Amino acid sequence: MASITINNVWKYYGDTPAVKDLNLVCHDGEFVSILGPSGCGKSSTLRMLAGLEHISAGEVLFDETKVNDLPPKDRNLAMVFENYALYPHKTVYQNMANSLVIQKVDKATIDEKVKHAAELLELTPLLNRKPLELSGGQKQRTAIGRAIVREPALFLFDEPIAHLDAKLRAHMRSELKIMQRKLGTTMIYVTHDQLEALSMADRIAVMRDGVLQQMGTPKEIYNNPTNHWVAGFIGEPAMNFLDCNLGTVSGNTALEHSAFSIPLTSEQSQNLLGSGAEQSVTLGIRPDDVSISTNPSEKHSIEGEVLVTELLGGDMLVEAQIEGSRVTVKTDPSYEADMGDQCYLAFDSARWHLFDINTGSTLF
Ligand SMILES: Nc1ncnc2c1ncn2[C@@H]1O[C@H](COP(=O)(O)OP(=O)(O)OP(=O)(O)O)[C@@H](O)[C@H]1O
Ligand SMILES: [Mg+2]
Repeated sequence: MASITINNVWKYYGDTPAVKDLNLVCHDGEFVSILGPSGCGKSSTLRMLAGLEHISAGEVLFDETKVNDLPPKDRNLAMVFENYALYPHKTVYQNMANSLVIQKVDKATIDEKVKHAAELLELTPLLNRKPLELSGGQKQRTAIGRAIVREPALFLFDEPIAHLDAKLRAHMRSELKIMQRKLGTTMIYVTHDQLEALSMADRIAVMRDGVLQQMGTPKEIYNNPTNHWVAGFIGEPAMNFLDCNLGTVSGNTALEHSAFSIPLTSEQSQNLLGSGAEQSVTLGIRPDDVSISTNPSEKHSIEGEVLVTELLGGDMLVEAQIEGSRVTVKTDPSYEADMGDQCYLAFDSARWHLFDINTGSTLF
C-alpha cells in the first residue's frame, strides 16, 4: 500500500515545460484519474512517478519517502500502457508469470498468484494460449494480469484501454474498477476520455497545458467545475455557453441576452456582487438542465427554432437556434420535433453556472 504526494513538480523537456508546478495527493488505496486532452502532460507525470523520467523540480513522495532519485525497479509499482507488449512466443500463463520467474519466486507461489489473477480477470480458460490467439481485450487483460501478480503497492495505468472498441472499453471500465476495489491497490490512471475518468475514479485530476485545473470527485467536478474550460471539457454532450450582459429587472440583477432576460435569485445576485463580476458574464448550462416545449408558457419563454434532432438510445438531443446562439437540449425521445419547428426553452436556474467572461473562472 502507498499514498502518493506530488509537491510543486515541474517537468521540462529542454526549455519547454510540460508539467507546471503540479501539486497532487493520491491516498492509500485510492483510484485517481489524471484527465486532460492530448499533450497536457499526463504521461510525463506518470513517467516521473514511475522513475522513467527525471523530475526537473519539486518532489514526489511514496508514503513519507522521497523517491525522486529511486530507480524504477525499487519503487514497488507496476505500469500498464496502451501498448501492452506481451512476449509473442509465451503463453498467457508465462507472460503473467515472467516477472516472478525472474525474481526466482518458487513455482508453487507463482502458480497460485497467476491463477488468482487469471480468475480475477476471467482469463483462466485462456492460460495456455499465445498472444496471437487472443482478442485485443484479452491481450489487455493479460497485460493487467502481469501487473497484478507482482502485487505492487501502486498501479500506474496509461490509457490502457484506449484502442479497444467502444463495447469492450465499457466492459473493461467496470472490470478495472472492480479489480482495483478488490485488490485495494492505489491506482493512478491516465486518460483523455472523460467518461472513463468519471465512471471509474474516486477522484479526478483535470490537467490542461501542464497545469492542474481541478482535483475532486467526479460529482464535484461535474457539478462544480472550477472554470469555463473544465466545465466545457467535462460532460457529454458539452455544456452550452452563452455570453450575457448583467442588467436589472424590477430591482433584481438579470442575465440579458438577445433571446432572453432572466432575473437571478437574490442568493445568486449576492454571490455575484461579491465576485467582482463585470458588465458581461458567460452563462453555462448543461443540455440536461434545459427543457423544451412545443408551446410557449411562463416557464418555456425562450423562443427558438429546431435545427436538428439526434436520437441517443433513451435520450434525444435537440439543437435549437435561439436569437444569437445555439443551444443543445437533452430531452425525452417522445418529443416531436422536425427541422424548422418553433420551440420554447427553459433554463433550470438552480443548475446553471456563471463564468467570468475574461478569466473564465467560475463566479458560481
Ligand atoms: N521526450 C520528450 N521530449 C520532448 N517533448 C516531449 C517529450 N515527451 C513529451 N513531450 C511534450 O510534452 C508535452 C506533454 O506530453 P505528454 O506525453 O505528457 O502528454 P499526454 O498528456 O500524455 O498526451 P497524450 O494524451 O497525447 O498521450 C507535449 O507537448 C509533448 O510534445
Ligand atoms: Mg500520454
